[in-house]
Amino acid sequence: MIKIPFFRKNGKPPEARCPVDLFKVGQEDLLFHEKFKGLRAMVEQKADLHQMRLLGITSSIAGEGKTVTCAQLGRSLASTGRKKVLLVDVDIRKADLTHGMGGHRSPGLTEYLLGGATLQQILRATRVPNLSMITSGIEVNSPADLLAGDKFKSFLQEIRTSYDMILLDTPPVLPVADTPTIRDQTDGFIFVYRAGFTPYTMVRQAMEELGEKHVLGAVLNEVEVSSDSYYRKYYGTYYVKPESA
Ligand SMILES: Nc1ncnc2c1ncn2[C@@H]1O[C@H](COP(=O)(O)OP(=O)(O)OP(=O)(O)O)[C@@H](O)[C@H]1O
Ligand SMILES: [Mg+2]
Repeated sequence: MIKIPFFRKNGKPPEARCPVDLFKVGQEDLLFHEKFKGLRAMVEQKADLHQMRLLGITSSIAGEGKTVTCAQLGRSLASTGRKKVLLVDVDIRKADLTHGMGGHRSPGLTEYLLGGATLQQILRATRVPNLSMITSGIEVNSPADLLAGDKFKSFLQEIRTSYDMILLDTPPVLPVADTPTIRDQTDGFIFVYRAGFTPYTMVRQAMEELGEKHVLGAVLNEVEVSSDSYYRKYYGTYYVKPESA
């Protein structure tokens, strides 16, 4: 399990959750980014060992940090130059990854699945080198039904051949059926758990619904680290304050 701290913009203690800029190229919070490098190492190791390249990011309930994890992990994987990475906004209901990119929903995944756009038309570059993205597309009445169709299966098979790593930003497991619907199409999931927020019974229930064998690793998000003195005490000279970095 990888623990991700609260994001601290420019080293300032978080007053509340501050929106994390999903595609910014920069390191405003060194510890935050360092932890994503830890997650990257875990993912790269498992992916290379078991030949995995298509991972979903999910959680039990809403607001646990899936989209942030998806974007930051994707950005971190792409930054080494070793992997060509694709993010897909499979959360058609919210499309937060799409909004975080500052882009329009369309043409995106749903247009492609409904036959209104080609793969070339929905693939977009991001501000991060080696990192591409497919936006959610327009809202549809029943995303789970669309994702259960053969077109989604063949879509994943096709993108598998063009990228080294594909990360799907998915909805949470408990409120809607979308993520359990697509679980067999992925090589596994990274399960995000928001520290001190999600009841453990819900985590267990979500794990059961997803199937534990589909969970490759877990992220404990928003771990509280209170002050710079905390960083210095435990991370010593390895931790450099962002302002002086
Ligand atoms: N480690 C963190 N530090 C500070 N803010 C965070 C952190 N992780 C997430 N957030 C913020 O919390 C909010 C929810 O995060 P995010 O959108 O990634 O969750 P989600 O699980 O994708 O939610 P949803 O289920 O609604 O799609 C966002 O505003 C995000 O910027
Ligand atoms: Mg999200």
